[in-house]
Amino acid sequence: MQDLDNILEKLKEEIKKVNDEIELNNLRVTYLGKKGSISALSSQIGSLKPEERKDFGAKLNQVKEEATALIDEKKKEIDERVLNEKLKSEDIDVTLPATSISVGAPNILEKVVEDVEDVFMSMGYDVVDGPEVEEDHYNFELLNIPKGHPARDAQDTFYIEDDTILLRSQTSPVQARTMLAAGGDKPIRMICPGKTYRRDADDATHSHQFMQIEGLLVDKNISLSDLKGTFDVIAKHLFGEDCETRFRPSYYQFTEPSVETDISCFACKGSGCALCKNTGWITVSGAGMVHPNVLRNCGYDPEVWTGFAFGFGAERLAMLKYGIDDIRTFYQTDLRETHTFDRRDDNND
Ligand code: DAH
Repeated sequence: MQDLDNILEKLKEEIKKVNDEIELNNLRVTYLGKKGSISALSSQIGSLKPEERKDFGAKLNQVKEEATALIDEKKKEIDERVLNEKLKSEDIDVTLPATSISVGAPNILEKVVEDVEDVFMSMGYDVVDGPEVEEDHYNFELLNIPKGHPARDAQDTFYIEDDTILLRSQTSPVQARTMLAAGGDKPIRMICPGKTYRRDADDATHSHQFMQIEGLLVDKNISLSDLKGTFDVIAKHLFGEDCETRFRPSYYQFTEPSVETDISCFACKGSGCALCKNTGWITVSGAGMVHPNVLRNCGYDPEVWTGFAFGFGAERLAMLKYGIDDIRTFYQTDLRETHTFDRRDDNND
């Protein structure tokens, strides 16, 4: 009995020095484990006289319960302390400045293209796609630019296979593909935004890969004034209601007549500045009436059908709209630039 009391006293002393769960577990094993000191005493019960066994048994149980209670209580104390320490170490200081999260922004070129698509779709145009790896036949020949024609020199082309397969140097081949697919007996309204490639050295205004937005309308009784009206709608949408437009005579193999389409300079409102090179006007696309040879090559009878076509440089539109002075900006994925565009856009809206 005395041994049992001593064990309990010893436990009470030792438990005071326990600091963590591992030490407490060791203590539990030392006292209450199978080979622990309390269990060791309980095995002596057999050697006691029968009349002593009852009291000893009762005392043993009491000591066991007390020891268990002491250990459980200590465990609670340790758990609580660990939790408090954890809470303290993970404490959030709400007065600290917040870390800024860098969120993505829409690609500005894509945004301009989508904007143009929306306007044309509202006028009943389809947005179509065409291959970037193209045949010379579609890129040049069907568009009235036969092999050896000097007009080819204006588009220094990446050839992939001899002189038959190339990276398209313009989106105009999609005109030919669309007309051929339509079968020569239906009106067409389509635009095709897409990547184009030329063997140009990259600089502030040239990129070996750039983007065009091609447009084609074929129907009966279409005239240059329809092109003018259409161009007017898109120019006003992109550059504001007070934007004026004009056509200047030009030359393309696949249109006759051909024009350059200008918008009035939004920076100086026509009085002359560096942006418009003091002319008051800025050129934004090439266009014209689809050449009878092209209509014929693509299965449309030029005696019955007429049409207009145009080609915008997408980067040029975006550069003008957002005041960007280097075409390489679009292809260098500099997040700081994207965010600048974003802010400019907010200011514009
Ligand atoms: N494809 C021409 C170029 O890359 C642009 C162009 C001019 C497209 C007149 C047209 C057009 O559809 O009618 O320079």
